[in-house]
Amino acid sequence: MKIINTKYQALDQLFKSRIEGKTIGLIPTMGALHEGHLNLVEKSKYHSDVTVVSIFVNPTQFNNPEDLEKYPRTVEEDLKLLEGKGVDYVFLPEVNEMYPQPAKLKMDFGALETILEGASRPGHFNGVGIVVSKLFHIINPDYAYFGQKDLQQVAIIRQMVNDLSFSVNLVVVPTVREEDGLAMSSRNRRLNITERKKALVLYESMVLAKNELLAGRSWFELKDKIQHKFNQVDGVKLEYFELVETETLNMVANQGIKDFGQEQKYSLCTAAFVGDVRLIDNLPI
Ligand code: PAJ
Repeated sequence: MKIINTKYQALDQLFKSRIEGKTIGLIPTMGALHEGHLNLVEKSKYHSDVTVVSIFVNPTQFNNPEDLEKYPRTVEEDLKLLEGKGVDYVFLPEVNEMYPQPAKLKMDFGALETILEGASRPGHFNGVGIVVSKLFHIINPDYAYFGQKDLQQVAIIRQMVNDLSFSVNLVVVPTVREEDGLAMSSRNRRLNITERKKALVLYESMVLAKNELLAGRSWFELKDKIQHKFNQVDGVKLEYFELVETETLNMVANQGIKDFGQEQKYSLCTAAFVGDVRLIDNLPI
């Protein structure tokens, strides 16, 4: 496994693979790796000839400086995990390499960034768009692997790839969960034992809502019930709990749900603070 720190090293190292006609798979991450990330790596190993994982805690996508500062950084462990998975290259740039100057360009994703995470974290998707497009330029992958865990991020990146004609194929991989259902996340490391238990309310509420929706319960009634369920867990603050169309992320609840027959047509999306750790999750219906 080779470590690449600069864009010129990336160009140089990947040149040979490219002229040999090998396909390159990229998994962009911010490190503090867990099974969710490793699952993306496995997909790439299976599917692409050369696998590149990037680890970069991207400052421009954090709208809260404390969140950036507290974001877990475990590079040594990460490298061991990636080596164990047979990754070919790890792209591990410094901030100055990715941002030799502050990016002035702004990405506006229209309606997509006025809802859910976009509404809660102003500027977040601009930062994601900027850094992912830099990574696409530097690595020039044939395939890029993203987790369904960040459903809106997938929609944003799909829009960017289409609007800017990147020649990369996006591969979306289902969410990996802990045994009890909690979605794996680097941020889970910041939860203490009590908070870890309380965090389960996100998944449990989505499962409850899914079952009740499928049983014909109205969304209007259900939303109250979910809010109540969150209110009962001390130290957990619900930010949003919405029902959306999986592809477009349009909120569908108010127009009524027409049919649940089509697999994964709708998704429940939620975000909540557990103590001072902000978690997000979603569940396709
Ligand atoms: P990060 O949170 O490190 O996630 C990297 C990738 O792993 C994302 O595509 C995310 O959706 C996926 N992932 C995280 N948890 C997962 C889980 N439990 N199951 C499946 N996939 C999971 O997302 C980012 O970093 C950044 O925004 C990034 C795209 C790297 C840009 O900075």
